[in-house]
This record gives sequence, C-alpha cells and structure tokens, in this order.
Amino acid sequence: MLELDELVARASAVRERAHAPYSGFRVGAVIEASDGRTAVGCNVENASFGLGVCAERAAVSAAVAAGLSEWKRLVVLVEAPQPVAPCGACRQVLAEFCDELEVVLVTTSGLRDVTSLSELLPRRFGAGDLGEGRDAD
Ligand code: THU
Repeated sequence: MLELDELVARASAVRERAHAPYSGFRVGAVIEASDGRTAVGCNVENASFGLGVCAERAAVSAAVAAGLSEWKRLVVLVEAPQPVAPCGACRQVLAEFCDELEVVLVTTSGLRDVTSLSELLPRRFGAGDLGEGRDAD
C-alpha cells in the first residue's frame, strides 16, 4: 500500500487535467491495487452534457486497461466545503470489479473521510443476480 499522501498527490495531479468547463467542478480519482500500482482518472465533460464522464469511471477504465487486479483503495479529490462521495452510477461501475473497496474522500483543503464501497452501495446488483433469471431468448 502506498502512503495516502502519495495517492492524494496523484489525485491532485490528475484533477488538474480535468475537463470541466461547464460545471467548473474538477475531480481527481485514483484506484490503488494490492500490488501498489495505481490508475488515475479525471472528469471529462462535453458540450453535449449527458456525455460527460466522472473521474471515478475514468479511473475504472484506466485500471482495467492497465490490467490492475485486486483493487484495494479509491481516493477521490475535490475542491468543496466537504468531501464528496462517488455518484450512484460510479458506485455501480466500481462494484463490477471489487467486492470491497476502501474509499477515501478528500478535499483540497485537507479534509478526509474514509468509507467503503459496501457502505456506499449496500445490496448491490451484480452478475450473480442475472443467474437463473436471465431471459434465454
Ligand atoms: N463528478 C465526478 O467526476 N465525480 C463525482 O463523484 C461527482 C461528480 C463530476 C461530474 C461532472 O463533470 C462534475 O463533477 C459536476 O457534476
């Protein structure tokens, strides 16, 4: 595991690269795997608003592309009065890849809040729910 300060530094660097001209709300996210490798993501907005991508989902794509396995920790960095938790869509996308994940919510002013994916998304929908109920045709 890397030092949390190091992960926050990486989240800060990627947050600087966010493309958020519409909301002005820049987000940096870092996923850390058990071997200490990391993948980063920032939010990427679009003039067609619905096409914007959150930092967390950008980090998920980077982590999958890099072949990271056994994700252990997610750091989300924002500039806001309080730390913010990933949106519902990002929680579900994260849940596709990890049963459990420590989630560290950080502000640029230094506030920190630690939670977990299971706390953020209890009773999740997953691949196992498709099982027998999947429509065959
Ligand atoms: N956003 C994220 O990237 N992550 C979050 O956890 C919350 C929201 C982005 C989406 C959009 O680009 C901007 O923040 C405002 O919602």
